[in-house]
Amino acid sequence: MTASTQFVVARDDLKTCRLIETPLPEVTQLPETGLLVKVERCAFTANNITYALLGDQLKYWDLFPAPEGFGNIPVWGFGKVVQSRHPDVAAGEILFGYFPMATYLVIEASDVKKAALRDGAAHRQSVSPVYNSYARVTGDPAFAGREGDYQALLRPLFMLSFLVDDFLADSDFFGAQNVILSSASSKTAFGLAWLLHSHRKPVRVIGLTSAANAAFVQSLGCYDKIVNYDKINDMPATAPVAFVDMAGNADLRGKLHRHFGAQMKYSSRVGLTHQDAGSDDDALPGAKPTWFFAPDQLRKRAKEWGPGGIDQRFAAVWSGFTRALGPKLEIVESRGANAVQKVYLDTLKGDVRPSQAHMLSLAE
Ligand SMILES: NC(=O)c1ccc[n+]([C@@H]2O[C@H](COP(=O)([O-])OP(=O)(O)OC[C@H]3O[C@@H](n4cnc5c(N)ncnc54)[C@H](OP(=O)(O)O)[C@@H]3O)[C@@H](O)[C@H]2O)c1
Repeated sequence: MTASTQFVVARDDLKTCRLIETPLPEVTQLPETGLLVKVERCAFTANNITYALLGDQLKYWDLFPAPEGFGNIPVWGFGKVVQSRHPDVAAGEILFGYFPMATYLVIEASDVKKAALRDGAAHRQSVSPVYNSYARVTGDPAFAGREGDYQALLRPLFMLSFLVDDFLADSDFFGAQNVILSSASSKTAFGLAWLLHSHRKPVRVIGLTSAANAAFVQSLGCYDKIVNYDKINDMPATAPVAFVDMAGNADLRGKLHRHFGAQMKYSSRVGLTHQDAGSDDDALPGAKPTWFFAPDQLRKRAKEWGPGGIDQRFAAVWSGFTRALGPKLEIVESRGANAVQKVYLDTLKGDVRPSQAHMLSLAE
């Protein structure tokens, strides 16, 4: 193999995508502590489309350089080290982390520890360190087979669910009796719904979704009530509510705020599944919508809970979540450029059934 295949998208028109080939370095051409990593399999969900939508704003495009005007969308998944210039990292090792949509990635291994290493490449340092860290997972059953698919598909999303659940509980749910989640069929939303529901927190969980996805949301068993987007005005508006917005749809958010008025005690923006960027949130009644910033809650809890405190608490709920809801997903594996392109475009159009979870590999 002498080239890496990359799947890149036009930053200002995500419908335009193409494959490019870049030459692979010889081992002697790798950086001093360089690793050549073969990207083996990665998850693809609406979250990756959000990375593309926010690529400039949140610097995701900086991570994996692409030709002018194009970007390489980051994906969570697995790679195998095929060449190593670092004395403590062997060829054959399996890494879990943030990869480009490509067949190979060169990593400048730094901070090499037993459980993890970091890519120290200069162009990657503008993003949060979490995006440059790779777990060393060779032989770890928690990262193999179906469990590995769950790690790639669900772990990064469930971390957000975990942090929002913790933040809401820590804030006494802002006095709300009901927590409303939009894009209830999304993995991030149903992770949060499961956490709220399974801990018998003193709130009811209401999922908003499209008519086509209501049956799937019902089948998850973690929402107390499911409401279609076109029926939100039928909800009783007498009790205080908190809203966690995965859809990012300004029209929907406006309708909800106007419907609940002063009963809207907290309104948090988390996602953009509906790919709608603009709004005039200042004029809305009820609590002002604000972006939930996960690193803030992470920093707060790291300080309060001490070393390992977050990981321990996350691990305590992770296996229950994947046991309960993992089997609700049909994992679909796609290999090769054409199949990857189809999954990308279908996800962009919202043309993926919520029960389907895609694992991709650009290599045939
Ligand atoms: N802020 C953070 O740190 C953070 C962390 C994790 C996730 N998130 C965000 O949470 C959101 C959910 O991500 P996910 O990966 O969990 O999603 P997912 O499982 O792929 O969600 C699929 C659902 O999203 C809705 N959807 C997807 N594409 C759509 C389109 N083009 N038009 C209309 N609806 C569409 C549909 O739900 P409905 O029919 O139910 O609307 C669909 O069933 C993303 O925006 C993601 O970036 C944010």
